[in-house]
Amino acid sequence: MMAAKISAISTTASLRDQSLAVGFDPQSSTRSSTTTLSFSSKLNTNLSIRSLETRRRNKSSTICSAIIVENNSEQMELDTSLSPRVNSVKPSKTVAITDQATALVEAGVPVIRLAAGEPDFDTPAVIAEAGINAIREGYTRYTPNAGTLELRTAICKKLKEENHISYTPDQIVVSNGAKQSIVQAVLAVCSPGDEVKSYFKFLYLMLIAHCGLAISHHSLAGRVIIPAPFWVSYPEMARLADATPVILPASISENFLLDPKLLESKLTEKSRLLILCSPSNPTGSVYPRKLLEEIARVVAKHPRLLVLSDEIYEHIIYSPAVHTSFASLPGMWERTLTVNGFSKAFAMTGWRLGYIAGPKHFVTACGKIQSQTTSGASSIAQKAAVAALGMGYAGGEAVSHMVKAFRERRDFLVTAFGELDGVKISEPQGAFYLFLDFSYYYGSEVDGFGLIKDSESLCRYLLEKGQVALVPGDAFGDDTCIRISYAASLNTLQAAAERIKKAILCLKPGVSV
Ligand SMILES: Cc1ncc(COP(=O)(O)O)c(C=O)c1O
Repeated sequence: MMAAKISAISTTASLRDQSLAVGFDPQSSTRSSTTTLSFSSKLNTNLSIRSLETRRRNKSSTICSAIIVENNSEQMELDTSLSPRVNSVKPSKTVAITDQATALVEAGVPVIRLAAGEPDFDTPAVIAEAGINAIREGYTRYTPNAGTLELRTAICKKLKEENHISYTPDQIVVSNGAKQSIVQAVLAVCSPGDEVKSYFKFLYLMLIAHCGLAISHHSLAGRVIIPAPFWVSYPEMARLADATPVILPASISENFLLDPKLLESKLTEKSRLLILCSPSNPTGSVYPRKLLEEIARVVAKHPRLLVLSDEIYEHIIYSPAVHTSFASLPGMWERTLTVNGFSKAFAMTGWRLGYIAGPKHFVTACGKIQSQTTSGASSIAQKAAVAALGMGYAGGEAVSHMVKAFRERRDFLVTAFGELDGVKISEPQGAFYLFLDFSYYYGSEVDGFGLIKDSESLCRYLLEKGQVALVPGDAFGDDTCIRISYAASLNTLQAAAERIKKAILCLKPGVSV
């Protein structure tokens, strides 16, 4: 195999913005220049030439992307390729837009930020005090990997009394946020390469090893069924687990709720995990018990299919809507992994605490992953969480006060945007998001801006012209909509609604896309 053909491009000891990517050509067994990558950060180039040269001799046949660095006047190649697993994952758009809006605010632009999924309330005092006391009392050491027995016992009590599901503490794993609980569950139950014949699997692994290709292998793995609109991380977590996300669209006319018939028609023996989120991010929809029962009847026909029920917004719900835990439905306990956390209802996003509850076999597997990655969650946050669960049914007075405020804000926004021509709304029954269909305005051409053709360009327009940061619906699997987070004061929302409406009124409705 010939050595990599690399052009010299750097003349200083620091890494330049230019770089060279080298692709593997299986026909000729040579490498040829393909793409240019760009790097803005500088790397420490104080490298040992000998070790790098050795590595190059050993590894040059597997380098798919490289840059040229110079050290002590010698040029050398540095492998910059990333794992195919990382290459297959999209970065979070909600995080990107929040960062962009923050940068604008720091530059003095008065942007109203309604992109982040974070309550604007402070953590209730009783919870904060418990955390402070934990530090004062020296409760600052590692806890058991699965979480303290005190917290897991309190979680079991909560799940029994509020959700009518019985668990023992060894069926609970506490993690650094519900996000970690979900990714561990996906990694624990989805098998890469399910149903792959060993010969093809060997060829495929060779291809990955040589070229870092990320694409084809996903079609070979188990499937994760995700109703859309979905929380941005679900499909990416499935990809991280080498599983295939299968997206099942749910329309605004159905209040964004999954149709059991559609589910039934899409399930195969490869389907491994169905992810449900109620109340939903981004739509605020709440699954009524009757619909969940219909879904459960479909699920029950598939012996391989598990359900991950993300119930993190459970307490942020507007009556008469009622939350139902999927695991409480007849026959569903054995196959359901219930995820919940403290970030949303208890305004504890920065404390990083969530948990999973389910049959011991699965939950222990999640704990195993955690034991080799992060270990147990913060001891201080766990003490605070015990206090949170002690605040009363569904979080007691402090949480119902926040829910009342969210409800007022929802009512205000639904009325405000209901006045706009062509905007479609499904009134949220929970969470703190409004997912509005603005596709009526796609196709509009704006002087000095250009064409608004999709949710991304509409959000860019609203950020530039209206100075309001929102998240495009395509990040959630529905390009007709944009998401407004109403975790902000009523005054802020009034100002934002005015700006958005003013910017929208400048648009001439075009053809729908
Ligand atoms: C639907 C949903 N699930 C899980 C999470 C993760 O929450 P955390 O990791 O803060 O507990 C979020 C956060 O935005 C969410 O919206």
